[in-house]
Amino acid sequence: MPETSTPAATPRESAFLKAARGEPVPHTPVWFMRQAGRSLPEYLKLREGVGMLESCMEPDLVVEITMQPVRRYGVDAAIFFSDIVLPLKAVGVDLDIKPGIGPVVASPVETLADVEAIPDLTAEHVPFITESVRRLVAGLGARPLIGFAGAPFTVASYLVEGGPSKEHARTKAMMFGAPEVWDALMRKIAGIAAAYLEVQVAAGASAVQLFDSWAGALTPADYREHVMPHSARVLQRVGSLGVPRIHFGVGTSNLLGLMGEAGADVVGVDWRTPLASAIGLVGDRVVQGNLDPTLVFAPTDVMTARAAEVIEAGRAARGHIFNLGHGVIPSTDPDQLARLTEFVQSYPLERD
Ligand code: CP3
Repeated sequence: MPETSTPAATPRESAFLKAARGEPVPHTPVWFMRQAGRSLPEYLKLREGVGMLESCMEPDLVVEITMQPVRRYGVDAAIFFSDIVLPLKAVGVDLDIKPGIGPVVASPVETLADVEAIPDLTAEHVPFITESVRRLVAGLGARPLIGFAGAPFTVASYLVEGGPSKEHARTKAMMFGAPEVWDALMRKIAGIAAAYLEVQVAAGASAVQLFDSWAGALTPADYREHVMPHSARVLQRVGSLGVPRIHFGVGTSNLLGLMGEAGADVVGVDWRTPLASAIGLVGDRVVQGNLDPTLVFAPTDVMTARAAEVIEAGRAARGHIFNLGHGVIPSTDPDQLARLTEFVQSYPLERD
């Protein structure tokens, strides 16, 4: 539903938070998952000689990297620059993010004792997060900052596999074969994720996104029994803070209803599911998505025609936040994302 345009004075009045609450918006708000990072030459320059996790713990770098896409694109929200494994690193898990590979864990979790050896997270573990969020919120003004955490299943996969995995076979073997270890591990990660999100919201983040990137590896029945209660606990704890909760996964066509029921205000949709079908599945919830991230490699008019289809489909939902259907691909041309942002923000929502 359109609304006449007056510039927002606070994040609360921004198009992003209005859409997240299902209120009328002046334009469809847009941001991009992984909008900060390797697609930006200014990011690559800053990161020269600095490890990924090291950069996440240095407020000067976190603030600058988070702001880079905001300056370049004028997107409707900033996403905090960090990684889903950062809170594990902060509590002392021996892990690193290897360039071109992803998170690698030195001693993968196998037993109950391994789980119990992981400390719970408190604000004292992450003072650099509090400081970075505070500084960002002060600098962003009316533009909202999205905090995030990895959901229990996706984070468990890195901890159990020891690194990135396609099949998540060891993870699912634990889920099926060692339910008490699985339950303890999922509770542990859920507690860490919730505490980590609480720190970000306490420091001023206006919304949170729970990334369950690899949940698409599960059947609905297994998701409901072994994963959903733990994600629900994270979302429930954050719910009491009064900020919108976005819940996103990849390959989740058959899980979208459950991901909404887990306690999301906004359900993130990957590009494989037509937004119209997703809206039918998530009930009276706001949706986020879902342009195929490879469409930015197409001619601009092809990309914008497909973006228009996404915006039009989104009008059937309680609210719609435009995004790609997964993260920005590192070889993306930033100028094309600038054109996409401009297209979405100026797309007329009035009916002729
Ligand atoms: O702009 C943003 O979206 C904020 C930054 C962000 C990063 N990671 C920075 C990052 C966010 C939101 C994440 C979340 C994340 N990390 C997820 C969930 C989102 C998704 O893509 O599904 C996952 C699964 C991870 C784990 C992870 N960390 C992977 C798979 C990789 C890529 C490995 C590679 O090099 O290809 C990382 C590393 C990472 N996280 C980079 C960035 C910018 C690249 C590291 C670098 O620049 O050296």
